Amino acid sequence: MKKDRQIIEVRGLARQFGGVRAVAGIDFEVCEGEVFGFLGPNGAGKTTTINILTGLARADKGEVRIAGIDCAANPKAAQRLMGIVPDESNLWPELNGFENLSFCGALYGMRGREREKRADELLDMFGLGDAAKRKFGGYSKGMKRKLTIAAAIIHRPQVLFLDEPTTGIDVASARQIRLLLKDLNDSGTTIFLTTHYIEEAERLCERVAFIVGGKIVRVDTIENLVRDVQKQRVIQLTLSRSGNTAAGSDSCGLEELPGLLRVAFPGIEFESITGSALRALSMKALPLAPLIRFLEEREMDVTEAKIIRPSLEEVFVNITGVALEQMRKEKEQGKAKGGKA
Ligand SMILES: Nc1ncnc2c1ncn2[C@@H]1O[C@H](COP(=O)(O)OP(=O)(O)OP(=O)(O)O)[C@@H](O)[C@H]1O
Ligand SMILES: [Mg+2]
Repeated sequence: MKKDRQIIEVRGLARQFGGVRAVAGIDFEVCEGEVFGFLGPNGAGKTTTINILTGLARADKGEVRIAGIDCAANPKAAQRLMGIVPDESNLWPELNGFENLSFCGALYGMRGREREKRADELLDMFGLGDAAKRKFGGYSKGMKRKLTIAAAIIHRPQVLFLDEPTTGIDVASARQIRLLLKDLNDSGTTIFLTTHYIEEAERLCERVAFIVGGKIVRVDTIENLVRDVQKQRVIQLTLSRSGNTAAGSDSCGLEELPGLLRVAFPGIEFESITGSALRALSMKALPLAPLIRFLEEREMDVTEAKIIRPSLEEVFVNITGVALEQMRKEKEQGKAKGGKA
């Protein structure tokens, strides 16, 4: 049921805050029926973009069309076609689940019986039937996110926009949300989402755009992106400092290793993954025995060596130059804004 009609068209979009170019002139399209992901490090411009697309923020320059409608000229008409799940919930804490949905339905001009029936149907679909009469303010994070998505689709929009739909919620709820999004897409809804969870993009999206410093650096299908990196061979070595300091050994710190290894093994790229693991990446076969010997000479025992199947994560790191671990930590510590842009 996929079609070639472009349902989102973005041309020359730009937005500046003071001296910060949050969105620095971007162009892309999303086809009807697609799940399209916007991936980028903290402060890359994802939220600013989605807010402009959904009319929650204004652009300095550029054009957005939803199903052919110019959003600047006809914001109301465009908004009827879209559902919006912002990064922070926009629902009313004093109203219960049912009332929130029914009220959102009313905002979209749905009549009493119709919106109540739809509210019940959605509460059921999102597993929130038992919480229907509880105040939204008392919901858990996962329940809040689910109700926010339910509210966003009450009027059966053609396009659903979600800003980080599973950030900060438990694994089971995140999985349930992903399944619900898949079902929605199967029934014809186009989905545009931002995420910093690479696995999420890999599982859900057909195409992704990588945005760094307000610019789109690559747009492609997951299939194409992953095919490129899967030509690479990657081995992950877990290291521990050996106890016996052999005579003539050449001890060094783990942080110095990638640099030393690059010099000793030209043509192979080395990255530290965690405090005790190292990855070797190459387009050719990796010389494992000489590598282990080199490390042992520097008092590092290789306690495990495993072959890594490169995934979208490697593509992301290659393209954006941002280490994922660092990005996750920043996010968890709430240092979301003004990061590496
Ligand atoms: N209202 C604002 N006032 C000033 N600066 C802003 C504002 N909104 C965003 N910015 C800046 O614009 C840049 C892009 O921010 P944006 O929130 O779009 O990034 P993001 O990709 O959503 O990041 P994150 O992954 O942390 O959510 C950042 O440098 C941010 O500090
Ligand atoms: Mg954001």
